[in-house]
Order: sequence, then structure tokens, then C-alpha cells
Amino acid sequence: MTTLIDTSGIASKGKVVLFETIFNAATIGIIIVDADGRVNNLNSYAEQLFGYRKYELCGKSVEILIPSAYGQVHVGHRNDFLVNPSQRTMGVGRDLQAIRKNGEIFPVEIGLTPFQDHDEIMVAAFVVDITHRKQQEALVKEQAKELERFSKRVHELNTALRQEAAAREQALSVAKLELKQKESELTQSFQKELQLMELKSRFVTMASHEFRTPLTTILSSVSLIARYDGAGDADKRAKHVRRIKQAVVDMKDILDDFLSMSRLEEGHIDFRPEVLASNEFITQVNEIAIEMQRLAKPGQIITCKTDVQQEILLDRNLLRHLLTNVISNAIKFSPEQAPIALDCKRSSNELVLTVEDHGIGIPEPDQEHLFERFFRAQNAGNIQGTGLGLHIVKRYIDLSGGQVKITSKLGEGTKITMTIPQSAKSFADNEHSK
Ligand SMILES: Nc1ncnc2c1ncn2[C@@H]1O[C@H](COP(=O)(O)OP(=O)(O)O)[C@@H](O)[C@H]1O
Ligand SMILES: [Mg+2]
Repeated sequence: MTTLIDTSGIASKGKVVLFETIFNAATIGIIIVDADGRVNNLNSYAEQLFGYRKYELCGKSVEILIPSAYGQVHVGHRNDFLVNPSQRTMGVGRDLQAIRKNGEIFPVEIGLTPFQDHDEIMVAAFVVDITHRKQQEALVKEQAKELERFSKRVHELNTALRQEAAAREQALSVAKLELKQKESELTQSFQKELQLMELKSRFVTMASHEFRTPLTTILSSVSLIARYDGAGDADKRAKHVRRIKQAVVDMKDILDDFLSMSRLEEGHIDFRPEVLASNEFITQVNEIAIEMQRLAKPGQIITCKTDVQQEILLDRNLLRHLLTNVISNAIKFSPEQAPIALDCKRSSNELVLTVEDHGIGIPEPDQEHLFERFFRAQNAGNIQGTGLGLHIVKRYIDLSGGQVKITSKLGEGTKITMTIPQSAKSFADNEHSK
């Protein structure tokens, strides 16, 4: 239903003056437009807003106040409005714009109020310049955007920071791990060094003690030999020469043990097996047996049996160390005249070296400690030694991947069996490593 304000009744002069006063004092632009879209009247505020004087606009098409791009559309809207005039806001959902006399375009909000003036339908357009509001809105929008950009940046920074922190934490834990490893490596090498120092100092103490006896023997035998200068003293001289020889051998053994031990501890000994033809191996073993025979006590015959037809995979130095160590024990811990048997056997996959004597034997309770450093059985008594020889033998055998076994009976004798693997695979591996 059309509800038009009927102004026809406003006839009295007083009311007209009041209306004019309100009209011109209003702080909103009011433009009265007739049914043809021509400006009929406008208030002072509208004059200021659009920069026109009233006389410049009156009678002109209202589209003069609308930017040309919308002018045509506006004519259509205006006609539609007149078909169904009602009080309402213009351009709902659209941004309305108006144009000033100086061509400046500005945003507006317009309320339309149709009214009846006598027979004619007129429309009052209430125009508000919303430039400031729009600016504020744009500002708010820009600030919101800025805020969004800022929070996005903060989020990015946060993520980057978290990633960096995680990376640093990881790097830290890696560094910690490395440090721990280094620490344990250092501790290990320090402990090894300490052990070696202990070993050396213990050895120096022992050697200075152990060297006294052979040196005293040598000294006394030498002075006695000097006295036994008669033709009938040949036996006595020979006896003292033997004693000197034994004393020298004892000292040499001590030094050999020490040297081997230090080299083992310092990691300077590695197992370098080579392929020895069977006759080469047999010659090598016989040579060692002959050397050891020279150091044997009177009547200690060293027999050497070698049952070896195939080639042998072995480190020559290792073979020498093993045999001299074990045979020197057999000599040392056996009385004169007691035979010593060296036996070498090569089976399909191992080389077995056995040294058997008929010496003092080893007490049962001591047998399990024989490979410990500096260990000497209770019955070793005054017999020279360091207690290192068998420990060294065991270490060498371990290097070769073999085994060593000792069987002994107190007062009857001792048998030492050393087994060194000789499988086809060991030969192949050896070929490979060349
Ligand atoms: N053939 C053996 N007969 C009797 N006892 C032995 C024999 N071989 C080794 N032992 C005992 O084992 C101990 C350790 O031997 P080893 O390490 O060679 O030391 P060392 O020869 O310096 O005494 C010896 O002191 C000795 O008590
Ligand atoms: Mg020994």
C-alpha cells in the first residue's frame, strides 16, 4: 500500500516558515525531486554537499548529481520507484555514489520518502555523505588485513622458531651423543694407558728383582771359572758355563715376555698369516726345536714329530713365539734328563701343536689361572719367570682364532695343546686379503 505524506494540508504561512527552517537547518542533504526526476527544491546542506546553488539545480534532472556511469540505470530505478513509491533506503546492497559540481565523486547513503504535493507525487531524497564512514571502514578493513598479515607473519615466525628450536635440539642431542662417545673413547684409551703404565711399572719392579738372581749367578760363576784354571777343572768350568748360559736365557725370557706384552698392549701385534708349504713349515719347526735344544738342561732331549702333508696358514712370528714360550716352560719346569716332546699335526681343518713334558706339573687349583697376567703356580718357587708367558700365548692364539688347552698332573708332567684353524675358508680369506 502506498503511504504518501500528504503536504496539501500544510497551507498556513506559519507552518511553511517552520518547515523551511527545519528544511534548511537540517544537517543532512535534502533534495526534493518531482515525478519527472527534476529537482524541485534542495536545502542548504544539499547545496554545500553538491557545490551547487539552489537556482543552478532547480528544474534540472536529478541525474546531474549522479556519476554518468550510473545515470542511465538511475532513470530506470527512478521510474520503477514511482510505480510503487514508498519510504525506503535507496540502493540497498549497492555502494551509492554522487557527483559534486566540481566533478568530485563521493559515497552517499540515500533515504527516499515519497509525498503528495497537491496532485503531484514528489520524492524527498535524504542524502548523507558517508565519505568519512567509508574511509573509516576502509581503514578498519586495511587494519584488519594488516592484523591478518601480522598474525600470519607471527605464525610463520613461530613455526620457523619452533623448527629452529627442534633442529637445535636435535643438533644438541647429536653433539651430546658424540661427546659421550668421545668421552668413553677417551676414558677407554686413558684406562688402557693406565693399565700399560701399571704393567710397565710392575714389570720394572719385577725385572729388577728377577734380574738379581741370574746376575749373581753369572758373577759368581765367572769368578769361579777364573779360579778353575787347571787341566782337571774342565768339568767344573763346563758346569759354570752352563749356569751362566741358563742365567742369560732366564734374563732373555724375561725381556722377551716384557717386549711381547708391551707390543700386545699397545696393539702393535697383528696376526699376518701366510701360506707355508708343508716342508717349509717342518723346517721352521725343526729350527725352533734345535734352538730350544741348545737351551735345554743336560739330558733334556726335545723330540720333534711333524705329521704335516698339506700347506699351513700361519704367521711365522706367531709360530716362533708360541713354541719358544711353551718349550721354554717345559725346559724350565722339568728336571735334567726329562724328555720333551713337540708334536705338530695338520688335520683337514686345523693345525694342532702339542708340547709335552715330564716336569713338576701344575697343582690342580692353579690350573684355571694359568692365562692370567703375572700368574705363577705355587710350585714355581725359585724358578725364574714373569708369569706372563702363558698369558701372551693365549693372546696370540686368540688372534689366530684358535684355542689353547693345558692338562697337567702335579709331579708327573704337563701337556699344552694349541689348535689353530686351517679351514679352506681361512685360506680363501687370506688370499682375498692380499
Ligand atoms: N710346563 C710347565 N710345567 C709346570 N708348570 C708350568 C709349565 N708351564 C707353565 N707352568 C706354570 O704356569 C705358570 C705361568 O707360566 P708362564 O706364564 O709361562 O710364566 P713363567 O714361565 O714366567 O713362570 C708358571 O709360572 C708355572 O707355574
Ligand atoms: Mg714362561
